[in-house]
Formats: sequence, structure tokens, C-alpha cells
Amino acid sequence: MNLFSIVSASAVGILSAVILFDTVPFPSRFSSWWSTMHSFDFADLVVRNATIFTSDSSLQFAEAMAVRNGRILRLGSYSSVQDLISAKTLDVNLGRKVVVPGFIDSHVHFLNGGLQMGQLQLQNIRSQSEFVRSIKQAVEGKCKGCWILGGGWNNDFLGGSFPTSSWIDDITPNNPVWLYRTDGHMGLANHFSLKLAKITNKTKDPIGGTVLRFSDGEPTGVLVDTAMKLVVSLIPEISIDERRHALVRASKHALSRGVTTVVDFGRFLPGASTDLVWQDFLDVYKWANVTNEVFVRVSLFFPMQTWPSLVDLVKKNGKALNENIYLGGVKTFADGSLGSRSALFYKTYVNEPDNYGLLVMDPVWLLNATSASDRSGLQVAIHAIGDKANDMILDLYDSIVSLNGLKDRRFRVEHAQHLSSETPPRFGKQGVIASVQPQHLLDDADFVEKKIGAHRANTGSYLFQSILTGGGRLAFGSDWPVSDINPLEAIKTATTRIPPGWKSAWNTAECMSLDDAIIASTISAAYANFLDNDLGSLSTGKFADFVVLSANSWEEFSKNPSQSILATYVSGVQAHP
Ligand SMILES: *[C@@H]1O[C@H](CO)[C@@H](O)[C@H](O)[C@H]1NC(C)=O
Ligand SMILES: *[C@@H]1O[C@H](CO)[C@@H](O)[C@H](O)[C@H]1NC(C)=O
Ligand SMILES: *[C@@H]1O[C@H](CO)[C@@H](O)[C@H](O)[C@H]1NC(C)=O
Ligand SMILES: *[C@@H]1O[C@H](CO)[C@@H](O)[C@H](O)[C@H]1NC(C)=O
Repeated sequence: MNLFSIVSASAVGILSAVILFDTVPFPSRFSSWWSTMHSFDFADLVVRNATIFTSDSSLQFAEAMAVRNGRILRLGSYSSVQDLISAKTLDVNLGRKVVVPGFIDSHVHFLNGGLQMGQLQLQNIRSQSEFVRSIKQAVEGKCKGCWILGGGWNNDFLGGSFPTSSWIDDITPNNPVWLYRTDGHMGLANHFSLKLAKITNKTKDPIGGTVLRFSDGEPTGVLVDTAMKLVVSLIPEISIDERRHALVRASKHALSRGVTTVVDFGRFLPGASTDLVWQDFLDVYKWANVTNEVFVRVSLFFPMQTWPSLVDLVKKNGKALNENIYLGGVKTFADGSLGSRSALFYKTYVNEPDNYGLLVMDPVWLLNATSASDRSGLQVAIHAIGDKANDMILDLYDSIVSLNGLKDRRFRVEHAQHLSSETPPRFGKQGVIASVQPQHLLDDADFVEKKIGAHRANTGSYLFQSILTGGGRLAFGSDWPVSDINPLEAIKTATTRIPPGWKSAWNTAECMSLDDAIIASTISAAYANFLDNDLGSLSTGKFADFVVLSANSWEEFSKNPSQSILATYVSGVQAHP
């Protein structure tokens, strides 16, 4: 047995058949040697002496895994895969380290994330002076007149009130600046940008948007929703090369976090009217399909308005362009967001007796387009945040089943963030997937109460365990770049629900088990995307997408899921680091 730990692709592999013959008990040794020699079923890669969590209930843990041609050949004890090792097998002893299936991030805006990595990132800013300092750094060395672009700021972390252009005007006299809020629903322009966009105290608010103003009518610099277009339309278009670079950067970032598959809901540029998702498909993803630079797998969702084009594309190409790029389905919106007080609720927002939030799509169109997409075989995902929006979409999904008949359709609700007490079991009953983002829970914890009051905040938010108990499936995602891609932190959040600065959980009853949280990041997420035949668990025949964690035992991992990612493998090939 010990001889085997030194057998590797570069070592004494030629002798492996002989060693095998000498070390395995006779009958199985002979038969496995015999079948090995005759089927040439050797592995390209064997990982062993590992603590492998498979996400496959038929064999929850394994010690060793053999891979050939990118797929899993066999899992089990070391002795059960020993006969698959040949001269050319890469034989990796993991010293008991924990291995989990490659994580699937079920909701990202991948190019936004990749582009933002190349811009000013304000996610971690916690004060006005830090804010100003980072803009000052970004201006240094910039050419006169060149745009300073960035995003990720959150006024809830900056004392509550919105930043104003006056914070940065004196340090940006020669450059237009545009900085998105973390949720993408508003942005800050400096004086230079406001002048460029001809926004003054006389500018009228466009329909669906607001130019924030001081009491004397002067614009503060913050533009909300459609008003953002006044500035955004002036920003030079992002070149094809920049977007391709952004995809490569995003792919590397995902892999560094143990994510091997992302579900991309497309690039958003609030206020812009062009169809960015299709543009990016043509310019960036078709390029990725024929180059060897993007190793993460991506499943793409397209705007529901464009369902006929997607039907054509699927007819031509099938749902997989190759083994990395998949055509997922169509997406639309029911309501807005909590941050901008436009998520749709049964009851009003605190201090706004007339505001219930907004249904952002015409319900007749919603029914028609959902039904047509579904009839055409496309998977449907709809954004719903408020409790009323969630019920409306579940009702809509029920109607579609009545209209179009029963089939395996895996309808998705994106976010499912605030639910009435009767709603969680509906996900299980109707077989609808709740595509949720645990990290948003941390960002929201201190602020939901201010928006919808303590009772609704504490009993109706992020009801993960209730959805599971009701038989529903959860698929975890990050909504990157709204939150960073970080499945291990999301798993920790879902199991502990302790926001920064809190001493106890936000609604302990909704804490999930570690196993369930991993399932939501792997096999359930694969199911939620019709990819579970190939991905989501470490099972014979599936792609060998897996992650090696720093934990030396399952106990260590259970105590603290915030482990480092030592390596990420896609199709049995190390893709990170
Ligand atoms: C497995 O790893 C542990 C921890 O590094 C080590 O003590 C043990 O000897 C290894 N076992 C084998 C069979 O390589
Ligand atoms: C707008 O600003 C101009 C110049 O600053 C000022 O003269 C004018 O009174 C302002 N108008 C309003 C409606 O506030
Ligand atoms: C994707 O690449 C394959 C070749 O690997 C090619 O046959 C196929 O047409 C490409 N698909 C698209 C949509 O460009
Ligand atoms: C519903 O969609 C069909 C095409 O699928 C279209 O002909 C019809 O006008 C639509 N009806 C409404 C009310 O939008």
C-alpha cells in the first residue's frame, strides 16, 4: 500500500500494474488487473487520502476519486480506485483535506463584475473620508477629461445619508466621475459630469427617475433610476476587448473562490437602453466559445422580451454551445428592490403610507410572455423581492401550469427575499426553485427594519429553512457584483445568520444545516439550471469539477466554513491557482 503513495505520473508508474498485482488480495486483484488491462480504463487523475463530500446522497463521503477525460470514473475508498492508476495517472495525496463539488453561483452579473474589478471599487468604504481618499487615488495619473468610473458604495455604511458631489468636486476638477450605488439603482455624479450632462436646478425629473436636490433646488449629484441615463448615456461605450478581458478576469475571480459554474443574468447598465445581454453574447461569449481563456462554466439567461431569438438560437445550437457555455433561459422582473423602496409588499413602507412598492411589468404581458417562453421549452426565472411580488409570481407560475400542462420546467424565483408566513411551502408544493443570496442578509440586517418595520423584518426575511422544510429547493448565489462571489461565506451566513456587529442570529429558526447549505450551492443549484446530469455532485459520470479546501477534517470545516480555497478543478484539470 505504501508504495502507492509514491506512484505518480512522473515517478515509477510503469511498474504500477506489477505493484498492484503484489499488493491487492488475490481474487479482486486478479480480476481488476485483468479488466484494467483489457479495457484500458486508466484514470488521468486520482485524488486520494481526501475527505470528499460528494453532494450525492447515495455516497455522501468518499476517500478517493478517479477521473478520466474530465469526468468521474469512480469514487470510494482508495482500494476501490487503485486499479485505475497507470503510468500516466496523476496521483494526488491530499493529506485528508476536505474536497467539495465545484460551487455553482446561481445568480451573477458576470461582465458587470469583471468590469468593476477593473474600476474603482467602493464596497468596503465605511466613511466619507475613506470615500474621498479612494476617489483622490483614482484621479491621480488619469488623463484630463477621462472618466472615473466605479461603484459599490452603500450609504447605509456611510452614516445613512447619500453622498453629494461636493464631497469630491474640489479633487476632481478635470474629470467626469460616475459611481454606482451597490444596488445599481442610483449613482453619484460630480460637478464635472453634471455640467457635461447639462443637469441644473431647472432639469425636470424624467419619468421613472429622480434628480436628488438640496432644499434650494440644486442637484446633489445623486441620480436615481431612469435619471441615471442623463449621465450614463455620455460614458463612452465599453469596447469589445475590455468586455472580453472582463470575462477572463471574472472567470479567474470565480475560480479563486471555488466557483466552477455561474449563472449569468447579464450585464445591466441602468439607464441604458441597448440590449447589452445579446450584444455581450455576440461579442464576448461566442468568442469565449472558441478560445481557451475562460475556464469557468457559464449558463446564460436572456431578457424575456427576447424569447423568440433565444428559441431560434437553441434550435440552431442546442442548449450547450460547448461543455462550458450553456443557454439557460429567460428572465424578467416582478418588482424593484428594497434599497430603493420599490420591492412590492402587501403593506406599506415605514414612513410612506402610500408606498407599497412597484409591479414593474405589465401583468398581461408577464402572463403572455411567460406562457410563450414556457411553451417554447425555455426555462423561466423572475425577480421577486417583496412578499406580494413573490405571491404574484407563484400565482403566475400556477396559471402557466394550468395553461400549458404538467412538465419538468423548474420555474425559478430570483431573490425570494421577503415572504408572507403562508408562502414558503408554496415553493415545495409547486416545485418552484428559490434562487436566494445569503450574503444580502448581512448587508440588509441593519436596515430592513427601517424600511418595513421590525415585525416584518424579523419574521418574513430570508426564510431559507422554512422553504426547505416545505419541500422547496434553494439555489444559492451572490448577485455579484452586488455582493462578492464567495460561496464559503454564503454557506457560513446561511448556517449562522450573524450579521457584522451582532451577537446572535437574525432569526435563529431560519439557520440551515451545513449539509443543506452545501447542497444549495452545488447539486440543487445544478438542478435549478437543468445541469444536474453533468454537474453539482461528485458522482460517477459527471464532470470532475471540485474544490480542495484548507480544512484538514470535516470537523474543522463544520466549525468554520470560512476556509481558504487551495485549488479549484474544472473537468479534472486544475484551473486555480
Ligand atoms: C493521509 O494524510 C495524513 C495527513 O497528512 C497522513 O498522516 C497519512 O499518512 C496519509 N495517509 C496516506 C495513506 O497517505
Ligand atoms: C437656479 O440657479 C441659478 C444660478 O445658480 C439661480 O440664479 C436661480 O435662482 C436658481 N433657480 C431656482 C429655481 O432655484
Ligand atoms: C461554439 O464553438 C463550436 C466549436 O467548438 C462551434 O461549432 C459552434 O458553432 C460555436 N457556437 C456558436 C454559437 O458560435
Ligand atoms: C400574446 O402573445 C402573442 C404572441 O405569442 C401575441 O400575438 C399577442 O398579441 C399577445 N397578447 C397580449 C395581450 O400581449
